[in-house]
Amino acid sequence: MRLFLDTANIDEIREINRWGVLSGVTTNPSLLAREHGDVEKAWLLILEEVDGDVSLETTEPEAEAMYEQGLKLAAMGPNAVVKVPMTTAGLTAGRRLADQGIRINVTLVFSPAQAILAAEIGAYIVSPFIGRIDDAAADGMHALRQICEIYDVQGYETEVLAASLRHPMHVVEAALCGADIVTMPYDVFIKLVRHPLTDTGNERFLADWEALQGELRGGGNDPARKEGA
Ligand code: G3P
Repeated sequence: MRLFLDTANIDEIREINRWGVLSGVTTNPSLLAREHGDVEKAWLLILEEVDGDVSLETTEPEAEAMYEQGLKLAAMGPNAVVKVPMTTAGLTAGRRLADQGIRINVTLVFSPAQAILAAEIGAYIVSPFIGRIDDAAADGMHALRQICEIYDVQGYETEVLAASLRHPMHVVEAALCGADIVTMPYDVFIKLVRHPLTDTGNERFLADWEALQGELRGGGNDPARKEGA
């Protein structure tokens, strides 16, 4: 399962990239708006920083203009993936882009029915929004499980990207469902690393190591100690 960061913030991307686990980035208009800067510059920086797929989202509501915008976004870098929304215009533009070999990510997917349409237009990625399904008092993980099963049974090659993940257990459950990719915000990435027993265990190991070094510096070669006395 590939791990993506859901952000347009270059500092967050650089930090997680240093861990050696980052396989891609997803951006959307809301994430870009949070950064307040030049959008094209931000995209280019991210495309250069990340050795993996970077999703750039179209913002034109009509199919023809969305298609034209998709062509431009795809040309921004070899790792650019064009995001189109799950709308009738998104399907039309997405199909044309996919037919030209452009990798598309169909976003704003909330049901298995929509995921079938994304696969049928030849999408490279489908993005079901797990957390937002939960927000609507439905079961996001159940939808994800159904999508993974349908894709498996039907032999669809479209990759399932679990998006709108809000906490580490979303990531774990998405992995169990068989998602190909998960995208998560910076804070969820940080929470994946942390465990209180790792912290206390690490503190104890370091304290014991320091104590041993002190002992050795202070002539801790006492034979009686070596015998465990
Ligand atoms: O990038 C799409 C998705 O991950 C958004 O998540 O938390 O805004 O529902 P959220």
